[in-house]
Amino acid sequence: PGSGNVQVADRPVGVTTPTVSKDVTILFGSQTGNAQGLAKTAGKKLEGEGFQVTIQSMSDFKANNLKKVQNLLIVASTHGEGEPPDNALSFHEFLHSKRAPKLENLRYSVLALGDSSYEFFCQTGKDFDTRLGELGGTRLYPRFDCDLDYDEPAAEWLAGVLNGLNEAEGSSAVPESEQASQLVESTYSRTNPFKAEVLENINLNGRGSNKETRHLELSLEGSGLTFEPGDSLGIYPANDPELVQLLLEEMNWDPEQQVTVSKKGEVLSLQDALLSHFEITTLTKPLLEKAAPLSANEKLKDLLAAGNEEQLKQYLEGRDLLDLVRDFTPWIGAAQEFVSILRKMPSRLYSIASSLTANPEEVHLTIGAVRYEAHGRERKGVCSILASERLQPGDTVPVYIQHNENFKLPQNSATPIIMVGPGTGAAPFRSFMQEREEIGAEGKSWMFFGDQHFVTDFLYQTEWQKWLKTGVLTKLDVAFSRDTDEKVYVQHRMLEHSKELFEWLQEGAHLYICGDEKHMAHDVHTTLIEIIEKEGGMSREKAAEYLAEMQQQKRYQRDVY
Ligand code: 2AM
Repeated sequence: PGSGNVQVADRPVGVTTPTVSKDVTILFGSQTGNAQGLAKTAGKKLEGEGFQVTIQSMSDFKANNLKKVQNLLIVASTHGEGEPPDNALSFHEFLHSKRAPKLENLRYSVLALGDSSYEFFCQTGKDFDTRLGELGGTRLYPRFDCDLDYDEPAAEWLAGVLNGLNEAEGSSAVPESEQASQLVESTYSRTNPFKAEVLENINLNGRGSNKETRHLELSLEGSGLTFEPGDSLGIYPANDPELVQLLLEEMNWDPEQQVTVSKKGEVLSLQDALLSHFEITTLTKPLLEKAAPLSANEKLKDLLAAGNEEQLKQYLEGRDLLDLVRDFTPWIGAAQEFVSILRKMPSRLYSIASSLTANPEEVHLTIGAVRYEAHGRERKGVCSILASERLQPGDTVPVYIQHNENFKLPQNSATPIIMVGPGTGAAPFRSFMQEREEIGAEGKSWMFFGDQHFVTDFLYQTEWQKWLKTGVLTKLDVAFSRDTDEKVYVQHRMLEHSKELFEWLQEGAHLYICGDEKHMAHDVHTTLIEIIEKEGGMSREKAAEYLAEMQQQKRYQRDVY
């Protein structure tokens, strides 16, 4: 336990061990846990069908063993601009290197997860699929590329994989009726969220701040849901009622008309469907392609025509469904046709800010309100603005727990930890501290926090200071970027303490980064290499290897967004 090596349910007694070719290896590359969850579900299903399944995180898989694998399933998400998730990096690199072996005996299939609003949709899955083919492997079932609403395609892929495996085994194919089995679990889960009551909702920032950060406390009472520090909470938000109203008016639609919203035949009023069932705030290329036949406006077809890719990309940026319907009138499709082309509302993941040991049956979140101006209109983050403007104590919101094996406290509570969490990145470290306080952990801990202004933006200030006083927290360094003429960031504080920081690393400390990926986490990573280079007397390459080694040992973990 604790490693990415997942044990699947025991084989029933009396079932004879199948021949070696019944072996299936499932490797997952997962950043937030979706791919890992799907890998587990697939594993359970295949076990039930008599296969011998090994499930591993790509980072735990000994790439040299690849030649011995006969049936390989890959479940991989794509991260950022087409990059592999952290735990897939080394395997991805190995496969694409000269060291990669010939794989003529390999049969495989790839389930790719992604978000079609990004240009490099499902790129990591595509990479694996192509590369395994180049190395001589045979597809036992074609790759599936899944968008944010991945449940149905993932179930379909698994049914196809099962058929592929059975066919190649020479045994009879799985009956149609069994193929439909869904990837649904019995208790509360992503596909069956729990309605959690809001207990508290406050703004953590002081008057005059540029920011608004909500501290939300939700009740898990009666749900049976549990989590560990480092896990995330998934929330299914509702859209902004004003935006829905504008859409209905723009299209002259009757809010009360009934529409079918899923393949299963679920019916809702158009208003409710737009409020909570569908995503209306993001435009994607596939969406525009499906919308084109519903519009009599030639400009939409032009935008989608070959050669206009750059223009299309620019158009999609920062626009929503209201822009689309305003920009490409007149529409000839009926409301039912229109909603059928929308993506299901995706859930939002937030790093949990509390410990269940310290706050039983509760979950706390730290949510930064997202508001900005684009294309002449104020834009609002769907979930964060729901939290900021509409959720009141007593209201409920659909939630589930997303376990994150890639962001966990050390198993040994005596191990030192270094936490880098500016802004809302502080959330999981509040959970870490609450947990370590509860269990009386003896390990040292060091927190780096940063935000714009000391007076208004020191999130959970009194709590850090209390932990510092009681010794739960050993060191606290803060960087307020806009209190001085020159910007100071968390990585500057790390550099100032580079000697001591490197000593902690040498003592086996685990280092965690949470928060903004593009700028902060990237810069902190570079700074870490600098620190190791300087204090360890290493070349830059060696320092980078040192950090990669820490990552491999799960001593360097990131929860970034
Ligand atoms: P800034 O907005 O003043 O530039 C939390 O949002 C804190 O992270 C803020 O103080 C913010 O500073 C800071 N921040 C912005 N870019 C950063 C970067 N590249 N590295 C570290 N911190 C950064």
